[in-house]
Amino acid sequence: MILPIYLYGHPILRKGTKDISPDYPHLKELLANMFETMYKAEGVGFAAPQVGLSDRIVVVDLSSLAKDYPECEGFKRVFINARILEKSDETTVLEEGCLSVPDIHEKISRSNWVRLQYLDEHLQPHEDVFEGYPARCIQHEYDHLEGIVFTDHASGLRKQMISSKLNRIRDGRVNCSYKVKK
Ligand code: NI
Repeated sequence: MILPIYLYGHPILRKGTKDISPDYPHLKELLANMFETMYKAEGVGFAAPQVGLSDRIVVVDLSSLAKDYPECEGFKRVFINARILEKSDETTVLEEGCLSVPDIHEKISRSNWVRLQYLDEHLQPHEDVFEGYPARCIQHEYDHLEGIVFTDHASGLRKQMISSKLNRIRDGRVNCSYKVKK
């Protein structure tokens, strides 16, 4: 089922999230819906607040980027109750976008690698180091769990330059090819 995507300006994106418990209802169905919604909107990463839930759930599928970023080949994951334990001081700047912030792309600095503790879709615990594009995507989605949106990281000057666009999204004056919640 396709879910509406909550847009920039909606308070849910600023609220932060809570860990889910093992008896979380309909988890399998929610994950399927999140993947379906993300694919339909042509996204590669998606966090629960973007469908209106303050839960620590992220889905990622970077397969479509494998041509430009070989490390993305077959990279389809679920991250539940994730915590970044450590991240590199070395950073890389690359352009990002977000399904909750349509038509805005900004160059964002991210750590080259992160060490992440999380549960998978079967609620099995893992601790892994991710680098390259997966590390960037994880940091972007992790921000959503913390109530942060990628444009928050833009420089003061860039923020000024995109402020009218952001205001338009906040005011609901935006056309999207996918179903949204304004
Ligand atoms: Ni996003």
